[in-house]
Amino acid sequence: MTPLLRVEDLHVHFRSVEAVAGISFEIQKGEVLALVGESGSGKSASALALTRLLPERAAEIRGRALLGDTDLLSLAPRDLRRVRGGRIAYVFQEPMSALHPLLRVGRQVAEAVRQHRPGVPAMKEAVRLLGETGLPDPERAARAWPHELSGGMQQRAIIAMALAGEPDLLIADEPTTALDVTVQAQILELLKTERRKRAMAVLFITHHMALLTSFADRIAVMRHGKIVEQGPFLEVISAPKHPYTRGLLACVPRLGARLKRFPTLSEVAP
Ligand SMILES: Nc1ncnc2c1ncn2[C@@H]1O[C@H](COP(=O)(O)OP(=O)(O)OP(=O)(O)O)[C@@H](O)[C@H]1O
Ligand SMILES: [Mg+2]
Repeated sequence: MTPLLRVEDLHVHFRSVEAVAGISFEIQKGEVLALVGESGSGKSASALALTRLLPERAAEIRGRALLGDTDLLSLAPRDLRRVRGGRIAYVFQEPMSALHPLLRVGRQVAEAVRQHRPGVPAMKEAVRLLGETGLPDPERAARAWPHELSGGMQQRAIIAMALAGEPDLLIADEPTTALDVTVQAQILELLKTERRKRAMAVLFITHHMALLTSFADRIAVMRHGKIVEQGPFLEVISAPKHPYTRGLLACVPRLGARLKRFPTLSEVAP
């Protein structure tokens, strides 16, 4: 089966720093790929490089990122803009940095609808999306300024904006890290629901392995700009091959404990 996205030998250099040192992976349609690894391992740089969201002067990007037959890394800027927010949408860690502080929430979501789905009544669809992503009074939320919403509500609005273009792939980079624990769980639930409902592929970036249970189909583990191990999620966590993966898993004892039919962590990470 042709993958939705095939990344081949991706490199990202920031001047002297080799942030991403030749990684390759695929994402199938509707699949959730988790990209995990310690801080600074190159997860965000990889995700941003896929649609060349990194500052051109600072970052040199090499390799291929094939969305179907189209190499995003050699696509004309104009066409690439259509892909971003269209076929590939992003949700980042800091909701406030993704929202324009001086524009009402509904207008921002409507703008995303207008850009990527011309002909759809944009404000009506924006309100519908705000409702779908769990804002209790979506009409009121649409009229609100970003700062009037809580962090969790802001992140829901960002997800509404990301869904506005009906993406085939959602790239979520630590989308819950800035939120408190109960809200984290709710946002994760929302992503799971939307993914199922829309059969949307997700590249989920985190350094919290525990968030991945009952979400990730496959996992890729990054360290120092390289993927050190990748495979089906349950296979990798029940029998990690790379010592670094074992180390990451050792930090989340509950993950191993919950999966009764798999070996315990003391067995896999002696
Ligand atoms: N704009 C930039 N200019 C220069 N160096 C950068 C830039 N962005 C990232 N880097 C460097 O690239 C490397 C990879 O960073 P990246 O942000 O991809 O890590 P990460 O895995 O996402 O970490 P975290 O879990 O903290 O988000 C780091 O050494 C970082 O300092
Ligand atoms: Mg990051």
